Amino acid sequence: MIVPIIMAGGSGTRMWPLSRQLFPKQFLRLCGVNSMLQDTVYRLKGLEHQPPLVICNEEHRFSVAEQLRVGGVISSGIILEPIGKNTAPAITLAAFHAMAQGQDPLLLVLAADHVIKDPAAFRQSVALAVPCAQQGKLVTFGIVPNSPETGYGYIKRGEEQGEGSFVVSRFVEKPDKATAESYITSGDYFWNSGMFLFKASRYLAELEAHCPEIYNACHKAVSQAKADLDFIRIDAAAFAASPEDSIDYAVMEKTANAVVVPMDCQWSDVGSWSALWEVSEKDVNGNAIHGDVINLDCWNSYIHSEERLIAAIGVEDLVIVDTKDATLVAKKSDVQLVKKVVEQLKAEG
Ligand code: GDD
Ligand code: MG
Repeated sequence: MIVPIIMAGGSGTRMWPLSRQLFPKQFLRLCGVNSMLQDTVYRLKGLEHQPPLVICNEEHRFSVAEQLRVGGVISSGIILEPIGKNTAPAITLAAFHAMAQGQDPLLLVLAADHVIKDPAAFRQSVALAVPCAQQGKLVTFGIVPNSPETGYGYIKRGEEQGEGSFVVSRFVEKPDKATAESYITSGDYFWNSGMFLFKASRYLAELEAHCPEIYNACHKAVSQAKADLDFIRIDAAAFAASPEDSIDYAVMEKTANAVVVPMDCQWSDVGSWSALWEVSEKDVNGNAIHGDVINLDCWNSYIHSEERLIAAIGVEDLVIVDTKDATLVAKKSDVQLVKKVVEQLKAEG
């Protein structure tokens, strides 16, 4: 049986000023009427699974609980992390928690902040991956890359090992630009989507072999956890001893048991305003408009108003986002620098 593990611990600094420390990207309605967290759960409909387990930072517990409640989602619990230690410890907490319920389910690890425009294709790939995961493989879902992004993991496809799945002959997390370019040219690589399927026990065995410190700290943190309504409060002191690492570096680059199942589902991790513009519905001039906006002779821009009217005239390739207390105006090609704005704001307190 599949238990979806929804990682909702990101801080989402790249979508400032809409995302804030207390209200990061996964809680926003960036594409349509549901938040990204709600959409993550809704796209599972049609796939046989148990109620999802959500893992988030303690400071976001009410946002998560409220969004699940409003969305009519019954979860099997919300694990609260006192501090974020990246994805390897987060998934480990979920795996130990699932094993403590006396089960060894297949964990379908999902990010709470991805856009998938073809949910049927997503479910089809997950269904294809189930037999591999049951045989003890760690399945990653591969996206056909279209540019040499350096913020992604790259998966080199090996031999086909069953219907629609391939041995992973190499997994390289976040290569440099030149390496990423050579991967794209070779045509042998997928992007790692950041979604995984494996048996809880299999993941834990790999982690124990490759990163025993995370294994031991998280084991202790879960065995001393306390339940509080839907919240699962892990032991803070035990968790503090865990190193920080991502599943990609801690396990996927090291394991000999990885398999990749391609996923062609119009996926985006919406890592910037320009990525959001790419996946948004656009008018005939290529503008993606949200809220109260008048635009005259504007082209290929993303314009988002929360409250006030925005009037834009004769602009091209811009991102304009207006919220109650901050406005962003940026060239679409420069939106990665939003991170720097957030850093500066933090430094200024
Ligand atoms: N609960 C919890 N705790 N969730 C976390 C934590 C944490 O400490 N850190 C990150 N997450 C969540 C984020 O909210 C996001 O949904 C997901 O885990 C992935 O984390 P990112 O920080 O966004 O990872 P990344 O984008 O750098 O890289 C990963 O995703 C890429 C695809 O988007 C890797 O798996 C790459 O290989 C992959 O290509
Ligand atoms: Mg990401």
